Amino acid sequence: MYILLCNGSPRGIRGFSEKYSDALAKGLAEHPNVQIEKVNLNRIAGHRETAERLAGADCAVVIFPLYTDAMPGMTMAFFEELKPYIGSLENISLGFIVQSGFPEHIQSRAVEKYLERLTEILGARYAGTAVFGGGMGMNEKRIALVHRLGREFLPDKRFTKETLALTTPMETIPLPARVLVGILGLTPLVQMPWILQLRKNGAYSKRNDRPYE
Ligand SMILES: Cc1cc2nc3c(=O)[nH]c(=O)nc-3n(C[C@H](O)[C@H](O)[C@H](O)COP(=O)(O)O)c2cc1C
Repeated sequence: MYILLCNGSPRGIRGFSEKYSDALAKGLAEHPNVQIEKVNLNRIAGHRETAERLAGADCAVVIFPLYTDAMPGMTMAFFEELKPYIGSLENISLGFIVQSGFPEHIQSRAVEKYLERLTEILGARYAGTAVFGGGMGMNEKRIALVHRLGREFLPDKRFTKETLALTTPMETIPLPARVLVGILGLTPLVQMPWILQLRKNGAYSKRNDRPYE
């Protein structure tokens, strides 16, 4: 069985997504006769070839970081490269891992829906989306959970519901914590890194611009 793991982070092997990919691959590799291939999507020039490989795989899992409640542009560019395969991937099981900095599951709900619909449009079998919030780094517990997702992925070629439920149990942070974060967010301590970035990029004077209005 040929399983393709695609890393959709612009940071490639240096990013956190690669660690998820590694842990998943280790879990999958516990099964006999499994050939796992890992690819990075951070070179758009390679997308067509990767799309061909995906179309010929038994299973594929696309792993990417949440960027502004959606996906990195290069992950989207890769999904668009799958256009020639619309409706023809009935032999493949397609799953996703979305990992992000903030701890709430709710911010990944829209992209989760998109991924399910994308799989449907491609005609593939939906293996599920594992959402990991609060991922500023990878601890042992999380590595073990991703490893478990990989181990349990076979033989049914899908993530198990029970383990998916353990990934990001918090839908939204409780109201008092939200109020506190809102207040802290206005303080110079929290604002300073953003201000420095804006200044560094010559964009500070444009910080209140509303280009889409
Ligand atoms: C441009 C950009 C946008 C981001 N947007 C979000 C976001 O909307 N929500 C969130 O929780 N984290 C967000 N993050 C944090 C990343 O999802 C998080 O750091 C992730 O672990 C990075 O994975 P990587 O190292 O594989 O690229 C963003 C990071 C960047 C650079």
